[in-house]
Amino acid sequence: MNAINVNTKLVGLLGNPLGHSFSPAMQNRAFEKLGLDYYYLPIEVAGENLGDVVKGISRMNFAGFNVTIPHKINIIKYLDEIDELAEIIGAVNTVTIKDGRLKGYNTDGSGFVRSLEEETGITVQDQNVFILGSGGASRSIALTVAYKGARTICLCNRTVSKAQELAGEINAKVRECCISVTLDKGEMKELLKDCDIFINTTSVGMHPKDEEIPLDPELINEKTIVCDIIYNPLKTKLLKETGKKGCKTVNGLGMLLFQGAEAFKLWTGKDAPVSDMEVILHVLSR
Ligand code: ATR
Repeated sequence: MNAINVNTKLVGLLGNPLGHSFSPAMQNRAFEKLGLDYYYLPIEVAGENLGDVVKGISRMNFAGFNVTIPHKINIIKYLDEIDELAEIIGAVNTVTIKDGRLKGYNTDGSGFVRSLEEETGITVQDQNVFILGSGGASRSIALTVAYKGARTICLCNRTVSKAQELAGEINAKVRECCISVTLDKGEMKELLKDCDIFINTTSVGMHPKDEEIPLDPELINEKTIVCDIIYNPLKTKLLKETGKKGCKTVNGLGMLLFQGAEAFKLWTGKDAPVSDMEVILHVLSR
């Protein structure tokens, strides 16, 4: 890497806390690989300082930044413009700065969709999708999948009211394609019969409780593609058990990779060197 100098374009990651992020190593490897004089740095920002930090960044040599927990919603009020999908999702994870103007995007859901496409060759268009969980990650994925033309979406969550609320929002903001489902096994089994793509967005199965499984794998049929957004461990118990039945499986590393690859393209205008970025993620997630 060239030494950082006055011309180096900076890219930040704003969040709090930031200790565990893989993004700095992944993005800096990508800049280095393409010989770009960019540098990605993590900046821990408390909520009350977000506006001041964004104002400062917009007056410095920054090409943009990523935004993570807890600022993905609050950042919106400091932006000049917001991309249509990010507006629908109501959360921003990537900001570009061009001529002092800040524009917000959301590459979390589109990163998931791209990872699914790259790993299975399947697009979400016209597919029946079943999503377990209704938190922040589910929100980005469910609204993106609806926006990109899924035929139906079933949302199922431990707290049923959150699934109902998100389903109502998708139907109102995108189109009538989403229902909420209770945790009743019979109801789930019926709906999972026609499911093309199942996505676990809950934290069940994440290290250190990686022996946990978010639903009975018997409910999923072998033609369903099973995705888990967890990447630690790379193969959750859900992916292992459904894989044994013959399902194609997709882990969460691709979503992390492609949300970053899409952000890289927005900042630099260049296609990201995804295989080099993937190597870094594999090393870090070991
Ligand atoms: P993220 O940003 O990763 O989506 P989140 O917004 O905290 O995180 O959402 C976590 C999701 O995992 C929620 O759907 C949560 O269910 P609740 O809405 O009922 O809290 C789900 N989740 C977490 N732990 C769970 C568990 N032990 N069993 C079932 N669902 C769980």
